[in-house]
Amino acid sequence: MAVRKVAAMGNPILYRIAEHVADPTDPKIARLVGDMKDTLIDIGGSGIAAPQIYESLRVVVYRFSARLDDNVEELDDPWVTLVNPVLTPVGDEMVSGWERCLSIPGLHGKVPRHKSLTMTYQDLSRTEITVEASGALATLLQHECDHLDGILYPMQMPDISKLEFNTEPGHLAQDIADGVKVWPVLRDLVDAWPARELWFKG
Ligand code: NI
Repeated sequence: MAVRKVAAMGNPILYRIAEHVADPTDPKIARLVGDMKDTLIDIGGSGIAAPQIYESLRVVVYRFSARLDDNVEELDDPWVTLVNPVLTPVGDEMVSGWERCLSIPGLHGKVPRHKSLTMTYQDLSRTEITVEASGALATLLQHECDHLDGILYPMQMPDISKLEFNTEPGHLAQDIADGVKVWPVLRDLVDAWPARELWFKG
């Protein structure tokens, strides 16, 4: 187990189609997953895809947190490992929300995502699992699985003006002022923004 370096936007590894994992029970995959967990813990993130640590394989690791599930305190093990995940949108409804990415430090952006989806994947024992997801979890899954297809969240943004520095969260602050619900980690950015009082009085 080890904390690994995270590839940043611009590195070619992030734009490749990652390879299908032939054998999820291969100990190499378990070691990779261990490194992905260690790296997430070290950075304090929620989800990571293998290409982000320079392994072009279809593996995603995420952990349930309060922002994904209100019942998170009841979970013995918040970690989920996805091998060869396949997402299928349910319905046409899209929702736009603010996202961040370990490979794009210092920025956040507003991205449209399918509201609901079905996901089929294998676990490390090669068991095939199908789950339904909506809301914040569906958004996280689309973000992470996009990494397996060489897609970073700005590539999904129809309005690139909604890509901004964490230190200048103007559009995000406007959304919050308009009553849009955002994750606490994003609200913290606005609370910590010195210019807030200048642009958002009252
Ligand atoms: Ni990401």
